[in-house]
Order: sequence, then C-alpha cells, then structure tokens
Amino acid sequence: MSITKRRRVIAGNWKMFKTQAETRAFFSAFLPLVSGVRRCDIVIAPPFTAIVAATEAARGSKVGIGAQDVFWEKEGAFTGEIAPPMLVEAGCRYVIIGHSERRQFFGETEQAVAKKTKAALSAGLTPIVCVGELLEHREAGRTEEICETQFLGGPGALTPEEFSRILVAYEPVWAIGTGKTATPEIAATVHRFLRKCAEKKFSTEQARAMRILYGGSVKPDNIQGLMAQEELDGALVGGASLDAKSFASVVNGCESAQ
Ligand code: 13P
Repeated sequence: MSITKRRRVIAGNWKMFKTQAETRAFFSAFLPLVSGVRRCDIVIAPPFTAIVAATEAARGSKVGIGAQDVFWEKEGAFTGEIAPPMLVEAGCRYVIIGHSERRQFFGETEQAVAKKTKAALSAGLTPIVCVGELLEHREAGRTEEICETQFLGGPGALTPEEFSRILVAYEPVWAIGTGKTATPEIAATVHRFLRKCAEKKFSTEQARAMRILYGGSVKPDNIQGLMAQEELDGALVGGASLDAKSFASVVNGCESAQ
C-alpha cells in the first residue's frame, strides 16, 4: 500500500505526574524550545487537575492540550467521572482513550473505549485511541489477533465519518516504561497490520489517511530512527514528556526527521 503524506503528531502523556505549579514551570521552559516547529503537531495531556493551568500556559502557542480519559455521558450521577463538554470547556482539544493502563488497572473494555470515543467526537474532541499487546501475547504469537480485536472493538465500531477524525496509538505494553522500545521495524509492521484492519473495515483511502502514533519508551535518542519509518505518524510519549528539554528534543527530532 503506498503511503500518502500524513501530518505527524507528538503527544505527551503525563500520566499521574505534575501539579499546577509544575505544569506552569514546564510550559515556560518548553514553549521557547519548540517555537520553530512547523511540520508536526504537539499535544500535551496533563492530569485533569492541571488541564486549565496547561491551557492557560499554552495559549497563543501551537501546543494542543488533551485529557487522559473521559466518560461517555454528558452529565449525571457518575461520581468521579468527567464529561466530554467539561474537557472542551477546560480547553482540551484531544483526549487519550483506552490506554493500556486503563485497560489493565481499571478494567476498561473495548465497548467502553468505543462509547467514550463516540462521545468525545460528538463534543468536538480528537480522540487518541490506544491499542497494543502484552508481552505474553507477543511471545505467544498473538500480537495481530489482540491488536485486531482491540481495533475492531474500538475504532472499528465507529462510522466512517467518525473514524476519519480519530488518531490511533499503537503502544505495545511490554515497551511502556520499561526502556524497551519496539524496534522501528517491529512498530512499522504492526502499524501496517492496523492499516490492513482499517482497509478491511472501512476503505483503502481511509486506511491510508489514518494516523497511527507509536508509544513505548520513545526518547530523544530513538525518535529519529522511529520517524525514519513512513508508517509511523508520530509518537505518544510518557516518561520523556515530563522534562521540558527531553520532550522538546523528541518534538524537534520528529520535525527534522521529515
Ligand atoms: P513511556 O514513554 O514512559 O514508555 O510511556 C508510554 C506511554 O504509555 C504513553 O502513553
């Protein structure tokens, strides 16, 4: 399948790190370091409590702010949950959905991922929908089966119009926070497979347009190698997004790899 040019995205997932004060300090250091970036989009997803501090600090810059999860109802008696319109009001443009940590530790299912994705889209957010296999799956040769199930249950449950507005992130669980990055070739192979799933479910054109970010131990020293693969449309970065210098060098690495 020939690849049409897709705009790349580097997204930082801060997970459960950073207070509001730390968020403000991060942005003061980070924004000047990425002011020359033109060719890729930058997203930062802080914890809920720091979203407003982040949107205020990022105002006037090209950095888009995201949340790390969302609920599918607009409002109601759902203690502890946050609705899509609340995220929009707080200044979010993106939301990460179905991260492996939510699947592993909070019992998130494919059905929940699909419902959250549809609700986020209706509110005008861009969902970043995550899929990825565990080490035991990879070792048992089940990578494709797991990724296909997660793809079909989540992004595959959308209408073609909805599907055209999401970003997908491939995050092999064995590469998250372990320092073990998938090689660029391993990542590209799975990205190609996900594109095949999208082609079967939607169309060749939609499969070609789908942007897939790679996530799992992305760092300043491996971003260039990863971005040398045309199949990779950017990265979802955990640990290395917490430090302004290291995240800026990932972003600039992506920019110069184009
Ligand atoms: P690390 O970059 O820390 O491995 O985390 C990846 C991740 O889970 C991003 O969502």
